[in-house]
Amino acid sequence: MDGFGNRDGKIWLDGDLVNWQDAKVHILSHAMHYASSVFEGERAYCGVVFKSREHAIRLIKSCSLLEMDLSFSLDDIEQAKQDVIQGNSLEDCYLRTIVWRGVGKNMGVSAPQNPIHMAICAWRMGEYFPSKKNGASLDISKWRRPDPLSFPPQAKASALYATATLAKHAAERQEFSGALMMDYRGYIAEATGANIFFAKDGEVHTPIAKTFLNGITRQTVIALLSQQGIHVIERDIRPEELPTFDECWLTGTAAEITPVIQIGHDYFYEPKTMTNTVTDLYSDAVQGPKVERNAMYS
Ligand SMILES: Cc1ncc(COP(=O)(O)O)c(C=O)c1O
Repeated sequence: MDGFGNRDGKIWLDGDLVNWQDAKVHILSHAMHYASSVFEGERAYCGVVFKSREHAIRLIKSCSLLEMDLSFSLDDIEQAKQDVIQGNSLEDCYLRTIVWRGVGKNMGVSAPQNPIHMAICAWRMGEYFPSKKNGASLDISKWRRPDPLSFPPQAKASALYATATLAKHAAERQEFSGALMMDYRGYIAEATGANIFFAKDGEVHTPIAKTFLNGITRQTVIALLSQQGIHVIERDIRPEELPTFDECWLTGTAAEITPVIQIGHDYFYEPKTMTNTVTDLYSDAVQGPKVERNAMYS
């Protein structure tokens, strides 16, 4: 086994901390064949998971949207995340929780009785975009976010990442660091693993989260900017508007606040006042006093 399969440490699997390399699934797991899995990506700063309960609530919601009957409660999930952090002696880290439909009596599409499993892994992670400090460049992907009538967009479901992987592979082949995806109507949606914001004339514009994941970082950033009296406009944004914006950045648990310096071959942005403001506000929020951190912007 190579890479992530070949590490030391502990993984929380269905209630127990097991050795990293023993956390395995059967090849006939339903999730392997039909993408019946949902997940969360979280970051802990100084051992405290930022917006931990919000992530646990979203995980439970994703399970419910995919009709997966999770036997672990919100408090179980919260405790399990702490156990993983402590069991691996981590402080600043990324946590990946995954829930999936496992192997059982059915190998067909319908497998309501197959058991539902949960695992939580954590590891040290630096910046998601290697180019974060210099800013990300985004390819304009030909792949689109689906119609909400095709799949529930608020489920953080593995199935939705199939097109994201295609988009990001195509971007990287052209030496972009990420990809901007449109929604099924052709409006700007988000990047492959982060939400997008634009700024001009002292105001902030971001697409309405109805065809893509309403990121917890996105919601945090909107609240932080609004508290500063900065007008955040959630609206449909057409790709034709790309040249009209002055600044652009991505938000996400992994990406945190990543400035965007280029979209496609024609549009260029420079991180200025608004990007710096949002970066500072977010950094203070995640690094703030431990006790207040999770309550502050909820
Ligand atoms: C497709 C997609 N959109 C948006 C986000 C941002 O979500 P959050 O801020 O909750 O991490 C993510 C991050 O996981 C993502 O994968």
